[in-house]
Amino acid sequence: MMNTIFVIDTNTNKKRRQAGRRRSIVREFALNTSIHGIPGIARSQSIHNTIFWWISFTIFTGITFYFVTQEIRSYFEYSTQTSVNIVSEWPQHFPAFTICNLAPVRYDRFIKPFLNYTTMLNITNTNDTTSISLLQAKYMSDFFQMKINRNESVKEFFFPLSTMLMKCVFNGYSCSAVNFTSFSSSSYGRCYTFNAKLKNINHVHDSNEYGGPGRLNLRFYVHSHQYVPYIREGVGMIAMVHDNAQLPLIDSAGMALATGFKHRITYTKKIVSYLRSPYSTCDEKIPPMMQAMFDNYQGAEYGYSEDICYELCTQVFTYQQCGCINPIQWNTRLIFLPETEEIIMAPLCNTSDKCYVEAAHVFLTSSSLLEKHCSYCPQQCSVTDFNIKSSLWKSPPTWLIDDIKTFVENSEIPLPIDWSTNWRSHIDSSYLSVELVHESSVVENYTQTATMSAVDVLSNVGGQTGLWIGVSFLSIMELAEMVYRLVRYQYHAIRRTHNRTEDDNKV
Ligand SMILES: *[C@@H]1O[C@H](CO)[C@@H](O)[C@H](O)[C@H]1NC(C)=O
Ligand SMILES: *[C@@H]1O[C@H](CO)[C@@H](O)[C@H](O)[C@H]1NC(C)=O
Ligand SMILES: *[C@@H]1O[C@H](CO)[C@@H](O)[C@H](O)[C@H]1NC(C)=O
Ligand SMILES: *[C@@H]1O[C@H](CO)[C@@H](O)[C@H](O)[C@H]1NC(C)=O
Ligand SMILES: *[C@@H]1O[C@H](CO)[C@@H](O)[C@H](O)[C@H]1NC(C)=O
Ligand SMILES: *[C@@H]1O[C@H](CO)[C@@H](O)[C@H](O)[C@H]1NC(C)=O
Ligand SMILES: *[C@@H]1O[C@H](CO)[C@@H](O)[C@H](O)[C@H]1NC(C)=O
Ligand SMILES: *[C@@H]1O[C@H](CO)[C@@H](O)[C@H](O)[C@H]1NC(C)=O
Repeated sequence: MMNTIFVIDTNTNKKRRQAGRRRSIVREFALNTSIHGIPGIARSQSIHNTIFWWISFTIFTGITFYFVTQEIRSYFEYSTQTSVNIVSEWPQHFPAFTICNLAPVRYDRFIKPFLNYTTMLNITNTNDTTSISLLQAKYMSDFFQMKINRNESVKEFFFPLSTMLMKCVFNGYSCSAVNFTSFSSSSYGRCYTFNAKLKNINHVHDSNEYGGPGRLNLRFYVHSHQYVPYIREGVGMIAMVHDNAQLPLIDSAGMALATGFKHRITYTKKIVSYLRSPYSTCDEKIPPMMQAMFDNYQGAEYGYSEDICYELCTQVFTYQQCGCINPIQWNTRLIFLPETEEIIMAPLCNTSDKCYVEAAHVFLTSSSLLEKHCSYCPQQCSVTDFNIKSSLWKSPPTWLIDDIKTFVENSEIPLPIDWSTNWRSHIDSSYLSVELVHESSVVENYTQTATMSAVDVLSNVGGQTGLWIGVSFLSIMELAEMVYRLVRYQYHAIRRTHNRTEDDNKV
């Protein structure tokens, strides 16, 4: 029956009815919505009033959009800030302690092969092993370069720890050269590390192990009469306090210790941790080349270090340019070629050949080259550092002199010729002692945190929309409701039209 009525209605009449119904849905929404401004438009009786409300609404909506996009953009910049916490960490690992003699080589073992070498080059023609000239000393790095390129061992030239370490006591328990791991440093020959994290022994000493206060006492004799002249401008040792899992960059971060003193070094720990992606590019993964290098460190289990990574990629670049690497870095010859993914033993450049200097200069001054070749060197995710305070006493005391004398006389290193008469002054110029003391369990914890969290963004966006146009999530629901009603109305209208046409066809 209804159908027939519709058939009678004219098309225009029906369309007007539908439009009226749609308008009333929109109007109902506009009058009742909590979005400010829209009810104003809907309520307006005069055209001026409507225009006024329209303009206000448009301007403030624009302002809202501007601020909201600013908020969202600043979130995606992932800016960070650093917060400092002072926390107490207990138990705490005792740090690793690395120490090397300042002189890289010992004269007695070094002089004969070296004279042989300089004679071979026609620089000298002497059998005199008791002295060395400045001219000869200049060829020392050439000598090392030659030895290493021939794959000959240079180990016998270094001071063994057992000849230097008189006494080692950790928290009241005695230790010896076996408790140290060793590695070669390019400037200081052989270096020795106490308490490095090892792969096979999963044990790092804690500060309060054996109920002690965290104190390492070491006595050393550096055999200064065995120093090769012209090489070092000083007598003593070089030491470094570092994290158990951090490779000691002793060449750059070492601390000088003079002979004739007892050095007291106290430390407190400092941890800097960075946020991971997307806030920073930090990564803990050890690139294959660095792994190859760590394998030279006697089973020590060291972690990733950004500084070393850059050193290594400079080496790779130098190798690609010159076919050899910087002879100063003779201790890390294993390099990883990224193209072929193989690890090779690179030869050292001749010291006279300046290709490696130029390559390093070009490389380190060009940020695009650095970016291209060092792409596998991300930032470290955390750095453990130690704040060091150092002070000293005069040493050795008289009661210790006899012990030192006995130690020196029993060590495998030849005594100075004038030992029997001048031993007191030799002891004064070669003895030193170190005390490493745990100062406090309080750790400075520097943590990188996000400046803006997702919740902050939401609150800021809410603040902006609320302030300018009064939009909340429920206002959006009202909008959604209106859209739903419109759609539903339209759907029914279409179905009705469809039924009617079907009925028409039947008729
Ligand atoms: C000196 O060099 C020659 C030839 O290189 C070698 O045969 C000789 O053993 C060397 N002597 C010493 C003391 O190293
Ligand atoms: C050293 O001198 C000898 C004779 O003077 C000469 O035969 C030899 O080639 C020279 N060696 C070098 C490396 O210059
Ligand atoms: C060095 O010693 C060797 C053998 O001991 C001798 O043949 C040679 O002449 C000596 N050279 C010099 C410069 O004294
Ligand atoms: C030294 O060892 C490397 C790698 O094992 C090898 O490539 C090189 O030829 C060797 N050099 C000499 C002089 O034996
Ligand atoms: C030193 O090493 C020995 C043997 O490995 C071990 O028994 C001793 O406990 C170690 N001492 C310290 C202080 O680590
Ligand atoms: C270094 O010098 C030696 C001779 O002094 C030469 O045979 C060798 O090819 C040079 N090596 C490089 C990498 O230039
Ligand atoms: C340092 O702070 C971070 C975050 O605040 C925390 O996860 C970490 O455990 C702290 N480190 C120490 C040693 O307390
Ligand atoms: C459309 O027609 C069918 C029967 O043909 C009927 O059941 C239905 O209610 C009609 N729908 C509308 C919206 O009139």
